[in-house]
Amino acid sequence: MLSPLLLLLGFAVPALGVYVSVSCPRGKQCQRALLSGNDVLLHCNSPGAHWHYLFAHAGDLPPFNITHLSNVETLPEGSLVIREPSPSQTGVYSCLDKNGSRVARYDVDFQDATVLHVTHRDLGQQPLENGSVHLNSKELIFTLWEPWQDCNRCGEPGERKRLGYCYVQEPLEEPTPCWLYLGEVDLWSNRMRPELQVESCHVQCQHRPSMGVGYITFDSFQLNEESESVWLSCPLGSIYRPVTWEADDTLLTWQSQLSGEALNTFLDPSTGGRQLQVFRAAIYRCFVQQEFMAQFNPKSSPEALEAQRDGSGARPQVAPEILWWKAGSVLTGLKLALLAGTLLALAGLMLRFCRPSQGAKRDCVVLVK
Ligand SMILES: *[C@@H]1O[C@H](CO)[C@@H](O)[C@H](O)[C@H]1NC(C)=O
Ligand SMILES: *[C@@H]1O[C@H](CO)[C@@H](O)[C@H](O)[C@H]1NC(C)=O
Ligand SMILES: *[C@@H]1O[C@H](CO)[C@@H](O)[C@H](O)[C@H]1NC(C)=O
Repeated sequence: MLSPLLLLLGFAVPALGVYVSVSCPRGKQCQRALLSGNDVLLHCNSPGAHWHYLFAHAGDLPPFNITHLSNVETLPEGSLVIREPSPSQTGVYSCLDKNGSRVARYDVDFQDATVLHVTHRDLGQQPLENGSVHLNSKELIFTLWEPWQDCNRCGEPGERKRLGYCYVQEPLEEPTPCWLYLGEVDLWSNRMRPELQVESCHVQCQHRPSMGVGYITFDSFQLNEESESVWLSCPLGSIYRPVTWEADDTLLTWQSQLSGEALNTFLDPSTGGRQLQVFRAAIYRCFVQQEFMAQFNPKSSPEALEAQRDGSGARPQVAPEILWWKAGSVLTGLKLALLAGTLLALAGLMLRFCRPSQGAKRDCVVLVK
């Protein structure tokens, strides 16, 4: 019963669009600050390439064979996928072709997303001020801002965010991402944090290329009895992309969260809102780049019952062991399925896969193990 899903997704998703991709001109050396906890793809166009990795913090250790890291995968065309990188994976990633010549080199600083300094412009919250340290000379520490991301909605008020990375600059030198600069030097300062800034936006709707993924419906999530909450994870959501959530058709905003008004939900800043913690049963929907990605129905909601009736005769059963924190790993599984043609984490889960549709009628496939 699982093959139709694979087929649909396989045709529907441009594999590279799944990951946020970083690229560097062939033969060049590029320096990038990124955030931990959010998947990224380091681009290298050299089929059969292999990658070497050099820890930023490991002194003179020889280059490390990257296949030994559990959260990285080399794609057949040569690029490297790093899933939920940790700050300790800051270092030098080199792509070597079949003959062992270097094709690309990435010096990547995975800055710790769990200590993001989050501010909302419309609430008058201030980003971090410039600071300084004394190491070699008097170095400036400052935030280098990325451009604003797209507004997360169109035709109605929305929000947009931008990321700011910690950089160090010596007088008359080029700025360097903080932890690439520090290398083995173990220095802690409250100033040395990446930042996330949010502001309101209102943009016209324009035709934009669809990610063409369709959306997924997850049925029957339940609040965990002990914590009285559950984490929902939006497929393809990332801190590098605009993400929106609705609870029973009401928009969840950073503004209400950062002003302390949101009581029943918590958008996780370290994933840019890909993960949402909910304390109340409701129908939750999430959107990535303004595209409807997934709906999460609480147990026995009318929608869920309708889904069961739609189930083309088969009466889906939801295995009791489905815990909603699994959603994340299931989605990772989906992505893997797209890329490698393998099914990892789908077993035991009921979900409906729906093609994107312009009209009201949904074209859904119900999958039950
Ligand atoms: C890295 O390790 C894998 C598995 O142990 C091995 O197949 C591969 O040849 C190694 N690559 C290099 C470049 O040493
Ligand atoms: C590897 O070396 C061989 C023989 O020198 C050459 O023909 C081939 O083009 C090289 N491959 C790459 C990817 O550079
Ligand atoms: C902080 O430092 C950066 C980099 O030199 C500079 O562009 C910016 O204007 C400084 N900001 C303030 C408030 O001094």
